[in-house]
Amino acid sequence: MWLDIFSIASAIDKVNMLAVALLMLCAVSTQALDNGLGRTPPMGWMTWERFRCNTDCKNDPYNCVSEKLVMQMADRMVEDGYKDAGYQYINIDDCWSNKQRDAQGRLQSDPVRFPSGIKALADYVHSRGLKFGIYGDYGTKTCGGYPGSLNHLELDAQTFASWGVDSLKLDGCYSNVSTMKTGYPEMTKYLNATGRPILFSCSWPDYERAFHIPINYTSVADNCNIWRNYNDIQDSWDSVTGIIKYYGDNQKTLVPVAGPGHFNDPDMLIIGNKGLNVNQSNAQMAMWAIFAAPLLMSNDLRNIQPVYRDILLNKEVIRINQDPAGKMGKKMLEFGSVEVWLRPLQYYEEWAIVFLNQDTKIQTVTLKLSQLGFSYMMGYELREILTHKEVGHVDRHQELNFTVPALGALMYYAYDSS
Ligand code: GLA
Repeated sequence: MWLDIFSIASAIDKVNMLAVALLMLCAVSTQALDNGLGRTPPMGWMTWERFRCNTDCKNDPYNCVSEKLVMQMADRMVEDGYKDAGYQYINIDDCWSNKQRDAQGRLQSDPVRFPSGIKALADYVHSRGLKFGIYGDYGTKTCGGYPGSLNHLELDAQTFASWGVDSLKLDGCYSNVSTMKTGYPEMTKYLNATGRPILFSCSWPDYERAFHIPINYTSVADNCNIWRNYNDIQDSWDSVTGIIKYYGDNQKTLVPVAGPGHFNDPDMLIIGNKGLNVNQSNAQMAMWAIFAAPLLMSNDLRNIQPVYRDILLNKEVIRINQDPAGKMGKKMLEFGSVEVWLRPLQYYEEWAIVFLNQDTKIQTVTLKLSQLGFSYMMGYELREILTHKEVGHVDRHQELNFTVPALGALMYYAYDSS
């Protein structure tokens, strides 16, 4: 009898051990991104929107994608105040690599445009106190036609880590999109296994959207630090407002998945290029702060007008973007062409409000803060932070007039008056 009980107990033990082993296996195979990075939206600079796939260093040495360009941008980041304002990453996008892998099957850089190699370039960027990011593709080729990482994911993760890469954007051209839901998490696992913290930027949800495949944002947020959801940004106001519209239309899905370590990425800041004027540039900066979006500039920091530099360095707006709670804001109200967006900040009754005017004429909106759900009886302090103007104390039931620039924005910081 005792023996029987003993053997049953030991059988139960074995079953338990098996269950524990199985659980551990599952935990390993579904291991989430574990790099501690992107607790607030990453800030930096990226080649793509401005410099595209310009590989013509012979005829256009100043603007071609090359180590020189990247080093010059790193210098500007440090010397012109961007680093001090919080911009950190210098990211090369597509078209950095050789068309062939090396004899060991590893990715290698283009020898003409990156004669010192990527490791040396990463070292240079690090020597300036910045972080270095690179681009790859989940499919057979990058969108620009350079070697992709399919069947080489592990090796490429190791190669990037050995070069001292701090951030990886993994694009999804030339791939079977239906495999991304398992393929991207596989890359997450390989990045974790390198032991080097590498911020992981995924294009996975954007491709699933385009291919009408349901997006599992819980898994996306588990496996990626940032992710693209929508079309590439172009150098135009229409492109910016198209992205804002997508974010507004899909806010029920997008807002809950954003948080420290995992953020939606509406794509690069194009401020300082030709497409946006001053009001529109302020509006992009304000909306990207409401979105808790990465602030990745793509512009020519060597030739940027001071007015645009000042917009990019607006400390008050950056502070909102970088709020430690990492909550994404949403569209609350619409008054004709004016949308009112609201983002909750870290402290009780601390908010950011944006009025976005998509009309070509100035528009005035009359609003009480109570219409946005503000409930604090003692009232609020209000300050406009694109033009740095104190409004002062307001009551939540007071009617306020907001005069919003044409194709532009107002952005307020609101906090309780106690
Ligand atoms: C895709 C991406 C862009 C850029 C290009 C590079 O279009 O969405 O952001 O990386 O590829 O070819």
